[in-house]
Amino acid sequence: MTEQIADMGVVVRTAGGPDALEWMPLETAAPGPGEVRIVQRAIGVNFIDTYFRSGLYPWPSSPLIPGAEAAGVVAEIGAAVSDLNVGDRVAYTLPVGAYRTQRVIAAERLVKLPDSIAFDVAASVMLKGLTAQFLLTSCYPVKAGDTVLVHAAAGGVGLLLGQWLKALGATSIGTAGSPQKAAIAKANGYTHVIDYRAEDFVARVREITAGKGCDVVYDSVGKDTWRGSLKSLRLRGMFVHFGQSSGMIADFKFSDLASAGSLYAVRPMLFDYIKSREELCSRAADLFARLASGEIKAHVGQRAALRDAAAAHRDLESRRTIGATVLLP
Ligand SMILES: NC(=O)c1ccc[n+]([C@@H]2O[C@H](COP(=O)([O-])OP(=O)(O)OC[C@H]3O[C@@H](n4cnc5c(N)ncnc54)[C@H](OP(=O)(O)O)[C@@H]3O)[C@@H](O)[C@H]2O)c1
Repeated sequence: MTEQIADMGVVVRTAGGPDALEWMPLETAAPGPGEVRIVQRAIGVNFIDTYFRSGLYPWPSSPLIPGAEAAGVVAEIGAAVSDLNVGDRVAYTLPVGAYRTQRVIAAERLVKLPDSIAFDVAASVMLKGLTAQFLLTSCYPVKAGDTVLVHAAAGGVGLLLGQWLKALGATSIGTAGSPQKAAIAKANGYTHVIDYRAEDFVARVREITAGKGCDVVYDSVGKDTWRGSLKSLRLRGMFVHFGQSSGMIADFKFSDLASAGSLYAVRPMLFDYIKSREELCSRAADLFARLASGEIKAHVGQRAALRDAAAAHRDLESRRTIGATVLLP
């Protein structure tokens, strides 16, 4: 009989609101070939966790354990794993499964953590930081002198994008939902910040760019911003729609790209940019080097116990968070 290890975690049996998140005992099997068991030290909260919890995104299996990024220590090694040892500090991002105290995971999805990166920092950048990395280097490669619009600039992904854009030499315009958030976005690298609940961001972007528009818009807000995002782009600019914090875009038509100035549009997902081990490791190496040099800093704005994941979801969905939220087992 396979040995089972007592574990605790957050489970969703029926899709719904934050109250659908239940703290309960789980069992973790011993690692099989190519797998390791890790004891998790910190787990990131992401908007994607709310999409799975609510049923917006289909579940890979039921019941659901949400959670898409975490960091911890290798506790047990399965057969055919050669490059990890018990005690190694590691981190990962996968679409679901991280809201638990221990986890068996494919060794090829883990990256080793440099000593300089704390567990809570790692758990706040494996998904959000790798997202910033692929958005700025692969999806639309930003170069010095580009003008870039980012919505939700004081959010988890948003604060990383602001610092990274500054390092790239771009002119960045961030939007944020309160004066306090706007000030934090400004302190995290944005050249200009617009409080888009108080001001018309399209008019302000036109003013800032002297009527020309931006080269690229990174829009993770979706329903409430996409029309304004298209209007904020230059001729043949790029609309990168990478999330929907305000709800799904339902009424977009291809002809909208023509009427807004022969625009390009893409709807990327991080997991398609880190499918191979080589790509995962090279993107993580870029991210870790920028963290180690201090060029970008993680901003963990909220910390909570893993068992309180429901409260963390409520805060994220009601726009009360700044930067990243980390759950501690
Ligand atoms: N495609 C990918 O691979 C990928 C990967 C990572 C993240 N994402 C997306 O990136 C976005 C940011 O993720 P995150 O985890 O860092 O979250 P976050 O940006 O920290 O939180 C979402 C923010 O969106 C803004 N927002 C605007 N309208 C909202 C509404 N009606 N309800 C809730 N929030 C609203 C709020 O900021 P303000 O109050 O300042 O408006 C809120 O703080 C999410 O849409 C996520 O799905 C996509």
